[in-house]
Amino acid sequence: MHTTHEQDHRQISVGVLTISDKASRGQRDDRGGPAIREIVEASGARVAEYLVIPDEPADVSAALIRLADEQDLDVVFTTGGTGLAPRDVTPQATQAVIDFEVPGLAEAMRAASLAKTPAAMLSRAVAGVRRRSLIINLPGSPKAVRECLEVVMPAIPHAVSTLRSEVGDHQAPTAG
Ligand code: MTE
Repeated sequence: MHTTHEQDHRQISVGVLTISDKASRGQRDDRGGPAIREIVEASGARVAEYLVIPDEPADVSAALIRLADEQDLDVVFTTGGTGLAPRDVTPQATQAVIDFEVPGLAEAMRAASLAKTPAAMLSRAVAGVRRRSLIINLPGSPKAVRECLEVVMPAIPHAVSTLRSEVGDHQAPTAG
């Protein structure tokens, strides 16, 4: 049961940021972004912005700053660029712009993903807050996106309510 103050997904605005050189050049379809959109919209939240950008640290940081500071989105999901390749820069570009980390989100995603594939250890995904926006890195594959969103989506409404200063710790929802 959520408290009466708790936001539900309907009122939550979401940005989707696909980070991929090939998708940004049109050399490959973006499949991670649409997977996020499908799950977010099924939850009742609203995708307010969807961007596809290359694996350039400056581009990633600039996009995150704009989505948080100018568009004031509740949540920004990135997809791609969390691995070990030289062009995988999403976690460091995210670290550069967040005010503080929310490590439990990334820990929970890795823990649950590890039960599905050892490659989960290779995602350096970061989650954190910039101003009042919660930024969460997801891996690039649509399968990984689905598996990770399944883990974090239940925590989103309370996180957003807290960031909007609508609830305090004492009003945390109970499990189930
Ligand atoms: N997490 C889940 N839940 N399921 C997956 O299939 N794939 C992994 C991992 N995380 C995977 C996952 C793989 S193969 C890699 S290389 C890393 O995330 C980084 O992915 P990225 O470079 O696309 O961000």
